[in-house]
Amino acid sequence: LWTPTNIIAASIERLRAQIGEDGVLLALSGGVDSSVVAALLHRAIGDQLTCVFVDNGLLRLGESEQVMKTFVQHLGVRVIRVAAEERFLNRLKRVTDPEHKRKLIGNAFIEVFEDEAARLPNIKWLAQGTIYPDVIESAGAKTGKARVIKSHHNVGGLPEQMNLRLVEPLRELFKDEVRQIGIELGLPYEMVYRHPFPGPGLAVRVLGEVDKESLELLRHADHIFIEELRQAGLYDQVSQAFAVLLPVRSVGVVGDNRIHAPVIALRAVETLDFMTARWAHLPAEFLEQVARRIVNEVAGISRVVYDITSKPPATIEWE
Ligand code: XMP
Repeated sequence: LWTPTNIIAASIERLRAQIGEDGVLLALSGGVDSSVVAALLHRAIGDQLTCVFVDNGLLRLGESEQVMKTFVQHLGVRVIRVAAEERFLNRLKRVTDPEHKRKLIGNAFIEVFEDEAARLPNIKWLAQGTIYPDVIESAGAKTGKARVIKSHHNVGGLPEQMNLRLVEPLRELFKDEVRQIGIELGLPYEMVYRHPFPGPGLAVRVLGEVDKESLELLRHADHIFIEELRQAGLYDQVSQAFAVLLPVRSVGVVGDNRIHAPVIALRAVETLDFMTARWAHLPAEFLEQVARRIVNEVAGISRVVYDITSKPPATIEWE
């Protein structure tokens, strides 16, 4: 019988048999999948699990603190937080091509894991939050059946020289099943039902060159959008919502001054599988309120626009 409790029990038994006394390393992103793997493995093997959380400077407002609080304080999981902002931002200097950004970020992630893995004794396994749809999608990409539009880096992106065996306890599960298990394991609702967030983070939402100042603007605007969605009870009604910082300047008037400053685009979509998506028809009054707050509260933003393109032809992310 499929119940979260049964799945968890069976999975824990299998993990204990598979792993024995070995150490396991997990790349914790704070997203649903890796979070559920962390909680599950913690139940199964306790302190044999070490998570590495990379604070790459491309995360949303307060995200790093939130992840550490949930896992370390509430769940008692061992998490190494790697402060890697400099490393990532240095790599991204003067880079504007979206695929180039993704590759650099993917490589930087791998380097950080290699460093951490080398430091830790007795690590024999690498845990990943691969879920069933990832398995299908990457099989398609490998056989050339699905055309790769963007290089997503969560499946199979590991260097072979790491010499670790893979443990992927969610490989047979769909997203909604993963979520049910997460709740059952005691993860907070907001974490389990959070919108997806891409591996390259805000770097693909600051269009063009990424720097600290742009990230700061975007983070602030994005936070306002998400906060308003939650307050209006709309967050759970859309599948994904976020702000994008555009590399164009537009004229506006703030007080008595003319400004010539960047533009924020808001994106919200409704979808079941993220392969196709409809732009979310958010109420005009709601959008107006978000725009007003962003322009008033985020100095350095002149204008807010709303993306009304569905997927296809547009992808969900702008890069
Ligand atoms: P696109 O932009 O391809 O996005 O329509 C579809 C979904 O995938 C997310 N996304 C990523 N997730 N690594 C990830 O883990 C990535 O590199 C990546 N790129 C896009 C995107 O946020 C959306 O949910």
